[in-house]
Amino acid sequence: MIERRQFLRQTSMAACGLLLFNGRKSAVAAASSAPCRIEVLLGEEVGTISPNIYGHFAENLSGVVYDGIWVGKNSKVPNIDGIRSELVEQMRKIKPSVIRFPGGCFADSYDWRDGVGPSDKRPRRTNFWDGAEAPNAPASHRYDSNQFGTDEFVHFCRLTGGSPYLAANVRSLPAEEFYRWVEYCNSPAGSTTLADLRGAAGYPEPFGVRYWGVGNESWGCGGNFLSQEYAMEFRRYAAWVPGYGKPLSLIASGPNSGELSWTRGFFEALVKKGKDQINSVWGFGLHHYAWNLSRGKTQDWDKGKGDAVKFDSRDWYELLREGQKVEDLINDHWKAMGEIDTEHHVKLVVDEWGPWYKPGSEQTPGNALEQTPTMRDAVFSGMTLDIFNRNPDKVAMANCAQLINCLNSLYLAHEDKFVVTPVGHVFEMYVPHQGGKAIRAVFSAPAIQYDRDGKPAEFWGLKGSASVREKNVVLTVVNPSVNGSRETEVSLPGARPKAGAVIVLASPDIHACNSFQQRDVVAPRTSELKVAGGTLVMTFPPASVTTLQIEVE
Ligand code: AHR
Repeated sequence: MIERRQFLRQTSMAACGLLLFNGRKSAVAAASSAPCRIEVLLGEEVGTISPNIYGHFAENLSGVVYDGIWVGKNSKVPNIDGIRSELVEQMRKIKPSVIRFPGGCFADSYDWRDGVGPSDKRPRRTNFWDGAEAPNAPASHRYDSNQFGTDEFVHFCRLTGGSPYLAANVRSLPAEEFYRWVEYCNSPAGSTTLADLRGAAGYPEPFGVRYWGVGNESWGCGGNFLSQEYAMEFRRYAAWVPGYGKPLSLIASGPNSGELSWTRGFFEALVKKGKDQINSVWGFGLHHYAWNLSRGKTQDWDKGKGDAVKFDSRDWYELLREGQKVEDLINDHWKAMGEIDTEHHVKLVVDEWGPWYKPGSEQTPGNALEQTPTMRDAVFSGMTLDIFNRNPDKVAMANCAQLINCLNSLYLAHEDKFVVTPVGHVFEMYVPHQGGKAIRAVFSAPAIQYDRDGKPAEFWGLKGSASVREKNVVLTVVNPSVNGSRETEVSLPGARPKAGAVIVLASPDIHACNSFQQRDVVAPRTSELKVAGGTLVMTFPPASVTTLQIEVE
């Protein structure tokens, strides 16, 4: 519900032909007394937004790979060499940059050799996630047929336009197997037995995989290491990895959310062998899930979780508060890394992020870890991508967890059914930021006041990020208020807006989501940015994500 004062203002503006959102026109006024302001500082560049910030994560977990990505070559579901065609088609729109596989926790139980060679000779194995599966889960979730292995994953990446990011098994395979996997992927055509194996599968030319994770969550499912022990393992895995003429970018397993002791422990132990060891690390993983919606009542992993689709406004703000923490985590870990890596050679790789709710909202009943994203998750995702955009000097890559049929999914699919979620729409709306120069934007809006279990609480009123490429400015804006629209003056000192477009993702219902039955309940609406003067005045609807594409002169 729009607040009364703002509703009146909005109605009168609409009456003047200045309808600003969700309508067919967007408006620009010459001057305004709008209560909120965004100043886009074109001269204040803060770095280049790496497309890799718009990365994805596809773990071999429940319905992510089997059913989500891989339907099989003989499936009735339209496919390209076994890969779901509709997924490929949709992913091309979001320019996926990089895709992480095969895990997650699965990675440290995976033998890459099981997934190469003739598909009918590949072994079946028990999936790491077997224990999380519902009793009625299909066999393909419990037992890995290995039909989707390295070749199929790389093929999937090539079809969608993403680069592969493979996570190596540190917990249960020796370093030699890591070197062999690199050899299989990257050794020149005909050069080695493994290159021949790749060639026999139809891929004589090297895959050229650049990004390699050395384990995953090595503090937990990846081996229960102490940070010092893991640093030792990392050095061993990273020493003399064959590169085959291409530099490899190794990503070390970083902390769980706020565990600064892991970050300090890892870097301190790493350089015990010499400061140059820093050069073997390209990225340092950081995982952050917003899962605890108990508002401080518990730290219990199961009890603390909220519901994906049934929530009230307090749960809405609590999720955003939990998600917003990633900005502090980036800054805090960056600072801790800088105590040793004083020149900041190593960048952060936020290779798992998103909300994590309790089970129950699956579109395909029984799919472990699957949840149905709503408008709340769209706002959460816009907010998170804006945080990464604002920190291009620190964040080199980020991977939303996870691509399909899982946590913060962009897509849901089952057999011949497929749907783009509100999160998927946000990713498409943020594509224009990829590769742009991030510029500083100053947001001024009154904070939201709300009741947090009987105690007054507040959350910021309006935030976002801006980037520029030649004469094209991209401004993304998140309005987190469940009921207040935000009339906002957008100024670009030193430049005049000429033309542009406004893309808005909003719904009158904060719980709105897309399903197999109703695929377009939440969908972005595009309108022309009508330029009538030097100042833009926009009204951002409640609970919305907006992209402004502004051509300036
Ligand atoms: O994304 C699901 C799981 O969450 C991943 O496998 C693991 O790395 C994390 O704990």
